[in-house]
Amino acid sequence: MKELVIGFLGCGNVGGGVWKLLEGFEKELAQRANLKIRVKKVLVRNVNKARTCSVPQSLLTTCPEDVLCDPEITLVAEFMGGEQPATEYMLRALKSGKTVVTANKMALALNWHRLHEAARHGRAGLYYEASVCGAIPVIDVLSGPMQSNRISSIMGIINGTTNYILSRMYEQGEDYAAVLADAQKLGLAEPDPSSDVEGMDAAYKLSIMASLAFHTRVPFKQVYREGITGVTQEDIAWGKELGYVMKLLAVAKREGDTVEVRVHPTFLPKEHPLSRVHDSFNAVYLSGHACKEMMLQGRGAGDLPTASAIVGDIMRAGNATEHFFPDSAFLAEPDVSLQFTRNWNTRFFVRMSAVDAPGTLEKIAGCLARENVSIATMVQRDAPVDGRLTLVLITHSAPEMSVQAALAAMPKAVCQVQSVIRTEG
Ligand code: HSE
Repeated sequence: MKELVIGFLGCGNVGGGVWKLLEGFEKELAQRANLKIRVKKVLVRNVNKARTCSVPQSLLTTCPEDVLCDPEITLVAEFMGGEQPATEYMLRALKSGKTVVTANKMALALNWHRLHEAARHGRAGLYYEASVCGAIPVIDVLSGPMQSNRISSIMGIINGTTNYILSRMYEQGEDYAAVLADAQKLGLAEPDPSSDVEGMDAAYKLSIMASLAFHTRVPFKQVYREGITGVTQEDIAWGKELGYVMKLLAVAKREGDTVEVRVHPTFLPKEHPLSRVHDSFNAVYLSGHACKEMMLQGRGAGDLPTASAIVGDIMRAGNATEHFFPDSAFLAEPDVSLQFTRNWNTRFFVRMSAVDAPGTLEKIAGCLARENVSIATMVQRDAPVDGRLTLVLITHSAPEMSVQAALAAMPKAVCQVQSVIRTEG
């Protein structure tokens, strides 16, 4: 049986999960993969810190060279998170011929080409199933079976923290700040939640998925991003009344060589399969010309779900006779220069405070009509406060720029726009 000697870079929640999975499953893994996996060194910041796993003290080191320069270690598993020093360590490992398995979406999304180039240079493998949606094998699906398709659209709930917050706001009628504080107490949101709630985490993942789906690089900086920090209970309640569920949706669409990539709060009809993905679950809904629509759903975070993807990659890498080079997916369309647009077409939910007087609707509808935007639904409440009432409208599908122009032209003395939420599905 082949012995695979590996080193860990990091041993926090995810690294601890990998240790536990390898430990509890050793015999079955050995039989299944014909592989004996031995962890030789574990790089940590503090060797004396209490850990959730039983990694022996003798394996711990604070010196990266103990992992990166040990010739017996042929595979490095990285779970440090953050761009640096993780990227530099992975580059060093790859260049020296060590295969890398990583869960690090940020390092990958920001440094695709450098990491792939280093892997090619070192003839080493770069595996990153765990970087997107934890246990859900979406990287494998996109880079394997879905290669038989022209993928036109990806829509995903790819951040568990924000899905948990929005689910509770929808189901319990709670406010954003209260749910976030509770999620932090429960360990479901980070003490600094900004990467999740501002949509960065989802944008990194979308950049990775879209690059694989569209066979050419979709840089992180092209992803339009709005987080959920401005989401109000009032909008969620209005959406609920009108048959919509709010999600932080990651959307990538391609038509010809024009691509849109965006992460923002989105209303989905409550019948849409993604609307039924609650709590901290993740899901990815794909459309391809041959497969039509399909949805993958599961746990996108947590120690063991993430470890599930990492250990799967370790097993695959350990038995690979030739490493998988994901950049071949990019090179499949080397001459294509994608055009990234921000003028996407979608329906818009608009909530405004409007003067309760004759002519108000005419003025609002007129601004929309001048931009060729058509109204699908309009609701107003007959309970004016200070002479103003709440008015909600949903447009038919219209270009983003036309809707923004129409809203900007609305006279402030007549109506004030309070929120604009894109709708999909
Ligand atoms: N913080 C992420 C989430 C998990 O809430 O889904 C890791 O990407």
